[in-house]
Amino acid sequence: MNEAAHKPAVAPAARNSGADAIELLTSDHRAVEKLFDAFEKTGDDDLEAKGALAQRACEELTVHSIIEEEILYPAAHKALGKHDAIDLNEAFVEHYLVKTLVEKFESLKPGDKGFDASFKVMSDLVRHHIEEEESELFPELRRRGINLVALGDKLGARKAQLVKKLERAGSKLVGDRSLSFGPA
Ligand SMILES: [Fe+2]
Ligand SMILES: [Fe+2]
Repeated sequence: MNEAAHKPAVAPAARNSGADAIELLTSDHRAVEKLFDAFEKTGDDDLEAKGALAQRACEELTVHSIIEEEILYPAAHKALGKHDAIDLNEAFVEHYLVKTLVEKFESLKPGDKGFDASFKVMSDLVRHHIEEEESELFPELRRRGINLVALGDKLGARKAQLVKKLERAGSKLVGDRSLSFGPA
């Protein structure tokens, strides 16, 4: 069974203490990519590992999307205004598509037809989205000189709240659209 599947659900937000907004979000990105990599290396018949990895990826993605939509994107919108190269609406739409795929995993079980394909499409989409954030949005936010430490504190606090909520609900909130704002 894959090692990554045994680690606790969404890592404690405390790991982000002292990190600025971009460091916090980048570390979330690396965490979810690790889960994607682990899934790709998991044997076809190791359904338990696949199920655990998909569940953890959905949890990580749910929390990450919410904190970006509630805190990062509005702050970016304020700082960047109308920017030729960075379209935050595109980011919201990509989040929306990811949420739709996350919801599929509420009923899809490992071994079901479509489980692996849905996970692959979700991971490809997220990898593309991460690449855009890290190559375009994040560097531009650094250039603007906004207070990324204060923003990081806000993101970390909201993340801690959501992780607690998720744990209390036994992860049943994953895919709950009422938790986030969706496209602006
Ligand atoms: Fe994002
Ligand atoms: Fe992100």
